[in-house]
Amino acid sequence: MSVEDMPRVRLANLPTPLQEMTRLSRLLGGPRLFIKRDDLTGLALGGNKLRMLEYLIGDALNKGADTIITSGYLQSNHCRLTAAAARMAGLEPVIVFNEECPKKFSGNMIINHFFGAKMYFVSAEKKSLSPQQYHEECAKKSDQLVQEISRKLKKEGKKPYVIPRGGRSLFGTAGYFTATIEIYHQLLDIGIKASYFVLPVASNGTITGLILGSQALSLENKVLGFSVLRYASDAKKLIMEEIEKDAISLGYKFPLDREKFDINDSYIGDGYAIPSKEGMQAMKLLARTEGILLDPTYTGKAMAGLIDMIRKGYFHKDDKIVFIHTGGLPILFADYLADYL
Ligand SMILES: Cc1ncc(COP(=O)(O)O)c(C=O)c1O
Repeated sequence: MSVEDMPRVRLANLPTPLQEMTRLSRLLGGPRLFIKRDDLTGLALGGNKLRMLEYLIGDALNKGADTIITSGYLQSNHCRLTAAAARMAGLEPVIVFNEECPKKFSGNMIINHFFGAKMYFVSAEKKSLSPQQYHEECAKKSDQLVQEISRKLKKEGKKPYVIPRGGRSLFGTAGYFTATIEIYHQLLDIGIKASYFVLPVASNGTITGLILGSQALSLENKVLGFSVLRYASDAKKLIMEEIEKDAISLGYKFPLDREKFDINDSYIGDGYAIPSKEGMQAMKLLARTEGILLDPTYTGKAMAGLIDMIRKGYFHKDDKIVFIHTGGLPILFADYLADYL
């Protein structure tokens, strides 16, 4: 199936702006820097996941679904936007969180509440488990609960549609495949050929679409992803597998150029969703030079990586870098962030 043939519902305000960050570039004495404002996709405070949800909800409607089930962390932007997208399409949102119910809602959780998402929470026995094992146990339990809820709804005569955590799927890839075409046209209008697309990476849907899109259009740019979750070697392996699978599904036969993408895991800090000092500094710098807000979990860490690599001379003076602002701004209102200011 080609991307053009995939069912799609319009949820996002597209195209999002592509802006040049002249002050930041001057301050760093670095290459020309552009920012693709996918934080401005619109619906429910925007973000990258809306592009994926256009295809995922399109598939759900095509299959006659009446309920959407997904899962993730309390501050998951994917869960917030899935609830919003479901409501916009007239569907019931159900979210399974792989964390305990918080005493007080903040950030994305408040928005989930407004959308009236049915929320479930899982927890595991903390004793004798490392933080990593605890997280894995909770994720396993939430996957099981998603399946249980789906089975129960089917028995009740409902038509549930399960969206994988983070929206990672062929449909997710389609979202950033079409975004690549959008960026290509915007760059063409200003007579620029990008040397790099730079972005944060977690469940891989965004980077997979950008790599596949860039290679399908034979663009010159490399794609540099800053992992906020996995070691680079694990992320790279997964991305390779996913691109190869998605390329076959989309009917592309070109050999994948492995030199044209890279993953850097040096800016994760103390772990996923834990704000880092460098990330917070990058957020302040961008706000104060360009008037643009970033988030502490994804874009702040990726921007910290980009700034550091510019300072260390990794890029050429005449490179043109497009940073993909993937959104995540409701996390600015998560109650824990005040401890890191
Ligand atoms: C704001 C934001 N940026 C980046 C990402 C990472 O995108 P992906 O999961 O497609 O790698 C996410 C995913 O949760 C996100 O919410």
